[in-house]
Amino acid sequence: MPCSTDVIIRVEDLVYTYNSVKALDGLTFEINRGEFVGLVGPNGSGKTTLLKCLSKLYTPQEGSIQLDGHNLRKLSQSEGAKIYAVVPSEFPMDMNISITDTVLLGRYPYLEGLWWEKERDEKIALNAMEKLNVSDFGNRKLGELSSGEKQRALIAKAIAQEAKVLLIDEPVAHLDLGYQMEIMEMLRSLSEDGVTILAAMHELNLAVKYCDKLIVLDKGKVVACGKPEDIVTQKLIEDVYGVKAIIQNIPNVGLVIIPLSTSNNGGVFDKKNSKERTTESNKTSARRGSVEA
Ligand SMILES: Nc1ncnc2c1ncn2[C@@H]1O[C@H](COP(=O)(O)OP(=O)(O)OP(=O)(O)O)[C@@H](O)[C@H]1O
Ligand SMILES: [Mg+2]
Repeated sequence: MPCSTDVIIRVEDLVYTYNSVKALDGLTFEINRGEFVGLVGPNGSGKTTLLKCLSKLYTPQEGSIQLDGHNLRKLSQSEGAKIYAVVPSEFPMDMNISITDTVLLGRYPYLEGLWWEKERDEKIALNAMEKLNVSDFGNRKLGELSSGEKQRALIAKAIAQEAKVLLIDEPVAHLDLGYQMEIMEMLRSLSEDGVTILAAMHELNLAVKYCDKLIVLDKGKVVACGKPEDIVTQKLIEDVYGVKAIIQNIPNVGLVIIPLSTSNNGGVFDKKNSKERTTESNKTSARRGSVEA
C-alpha cells in the first residue's frame, strides 16, 4: 500500500525478537515528511533495535515498514541509501580513515561506477563538514578524535549523503552543552528544509524543546506518540522512567521537565527489576545465583 504524500515512514505491527528477548513488541506509528521526531524511552526499551530495523540492519520477524512509499524489504542497499542515512551510536575506535574521506563516503550511493568523486560530491562533503565544524581536522583519522568530534564527523557524513530520512542513535550523547544545542538546532533546520529526522535520545528537555513529535517506547511498545506538549505529563514520566517530575510550560521557553526523585526508595532499579522481561540472561543469572547461594 503506497504511503500518502505526507507520510514518509509507516511502521505496522513490528516485532523483533533476539533469541528469547522480544525487543519490539508490535510497534505501529507514522512519521510525516519533514518531521523531527525524538525517539525516547528508558534503557532497553527498543530504540536502537527499531533504528536497526528501519535501516535494514535487522529483519523484523513480523510487521511491515514502508519508507517513502517503498516496502523496505524490497529496497536494494543503494536505493535505500538515497532514502535514509544512519548515524549509529557506536562506531569502531580504530578507524584508520581521514575525516574528509569519511564524509566523502556519504557520497558513495551517488557514484556512477567509478570510485572517483566528482567536484560536486567534494563540494557537498566540504559543506557538510563546515556545517558540523569539523573542517579543521579533515586530515586527522576518525580514531584520533574525541567522542563528540567523531559524532559530529559522522553526522556530517550522513548529511553529505543527502538522504530524505536521517536515522540517528543518540546524536548528542557525547557532546558538551554548546554542541548539544548546536546539533539539535542544525537537525531542526534540516527538518525545516524537508529532511525527516528520527533521533533516539535520552535528553528529554532537548527532545521536547526541538522535536515536533515524540515517540515514547517502553518495553518494546509505543506508549505515547504525539507533540511533546500533548503527551509529556507527570504520569508519563513516572510510568515510563519511575521518576517523579515537575512539568512546566514556561511562556517564551516552552515545556521543561524537572526531575525530582525516583518514585520509591529503591527507585528506578526496583521498578525496572519488577518489570523485567523473561530473558535467557535473567534465567542465567537466576541459575548463577542459585549456584552461588
Ligand atoms: N544483540 C542483542 N542480543 C540480545 N538482546 C539484545 C541485543 N541487543 C539488544 N538486546 C535487548 O533488546 C532490548 C532492547 O534493546 P535496545 O538496545 O534496542 O534498547 P535501547 O532503547 O536502545 O536502550 P539504550 O537506551 O540503553 O540504548 C533490551 O532488552 C536489550 O537487552
Ligand atoms: Mg540504544
